[in-house]
Amino acid sequence: MRIAVLASGRGSNFQSLIDASERGDLPNVDLVLLVVNNKEAKAIDRAEKHSIDWIFINHTDKERVAFDIEVMAKLDEYNVEGIILAGFMRILSKEFISNYKNRILNIHPSLLPLFPGAHAHRDALEANATKSGCTVHFVDEGVDTGSIILQKEVVVKPDDTEETLSSRILVQEHIAFPEALHLFSSNRLKITSNGVEILPP
Ligand code: GRF
Repeated sequence: MRIAVLASGRGSNFQSLIDASERGDLPNVDLVLLVVNNKEAKAIDRAEKHSIDWIFINHTDKERVAFDIEVMAKLDEYNVEGIILAGFMRILSKEFISNYKNRILNIHPSLLPLFPGAHAHRDALEANATKSGCTVHFVDEGVDTGSIILQKEVVVKPDDTEETLSSRILVQEHIAFPEALHLFSSNRLKITSNGVEILPP
């Protein structure tokens, strides 16, 4: 399955997919393209180091849909079949999402539906949650509302700060995302009215 990754920054989740792929854990995945909307994204260095094509598409000079159309044209050019949002700090248009219905995966640093949005760690701490974690889900038109594929839990410690909690959750993200992508690329995810069913190998 030809996969494109969309990222805006650090790209550690992108790296976890590269590493999984190089280990042979993603036998059905071909990471063909990285799209960034930030020229400074560290994800670019990771793509270069591993000889993955990348492109910067600027969003600051155009309307949301115009940006998305540009991204879609690139994805078409690369015959992309699945899209990974790995720290992509932009809301995608309805047009984009319907064009790739059930083919876009995102990772979020909380146990959704708890703590959606941009401040998941802070929100979990403010709510005195005793556990948090990460969620890989399909992307729909809402913010962090799509069908859940899998989750990993992390215990919240009484003295946790946003930094300590996020770094422990990140370790789990790097396990969860390759696992979910492997299931997706092996056609083992079935979306039902009750959520996502994981089919046997
Ligand atoms: C991760 O915490 C992910 O859950 C969230 O954005 C962050 C991206 O980190 N969606 P990285 O760029 O993959 O290191």
